[in-house]
Amino acid sequence: MNFFIDTANIEEIKKGIELGLVDGVTTNPTLLSKEKKDPESTIKEIVALVEGPVSLEVISTDSKGMCDEARKLSTLGPNVVVKVPMTEEGIKTVRILSQEGIKTNVTLIFQPVQSLIAAKAGATYVSPFIGRIDDISARGMDIVEDTLTIFSNYGFETEIIVASIRSPLHVLQAATIGADIATIPFNVLRQLMNHPLTDIGLERFLKDWDNIKK
Ligand code: E4P
Repeated sequence: MNFFIDTANIEEIKKGIELGLVDGVTTNPTLLSKEKKDPESTIKEIVALVEGPVSLEVISTDSKGMCDEARKLSTLGPNVVVKVPMTEEGIKTVRILSQEGIKTNVTLIFQPVQSLIAAKAGATYVSPFIGRIDDISARGMDIVEDTLTIFSNYGFETEIIVASIRSPLHVLQAATIGADIATIPFNVLRQLMNHPLTDIGLERFLKDWDNIKK
């Protein structure tokens, strides 16, 4: 299972890389708005820093505008993936970009048939937003499970990025059902390595070791 980091923060990406836990990065306009630097230089820095796929989102809402932005973004590096919203204009865009060999990540997916449509258009990735569905008291992970079934039924090569992850439990569920990728915020990435019993156990070992030496 690949781990992407869901951030536009350079320090978080560097720390994730040190841990060997950054197979790719996903950004969006909200994440970029949290950074102090201008978005263009942040984006360039991320693309240069990361070896794996880096998703960069278009801002236009019409297909022509999205295609123009996508072509420009794709010149930043071979690892650029263009994030396109799951709209009619977005689907037209994905079809065109896939014919041009530009990789796409269809974002803001909230039901499995949207994933099917995106895959038929030639999307490289689809991003179901499970946390936002859980937020409204529905079961986000069901969408991932159904999408996996649909893709396997028809042999689509489109990969599923489980997005809008809120907790280690989401990562556990995504891994258990066999999702290709989870895109994880840095705070959750750190939580994945922690357990209170690990801390208690280590404290006890070190205390006992001190007692031997006394
Ligand atoms: C994924 O590509 C999105 O950037 C992200 O996961 C959205 O998460 P949020 O619902 O926490 O904003």
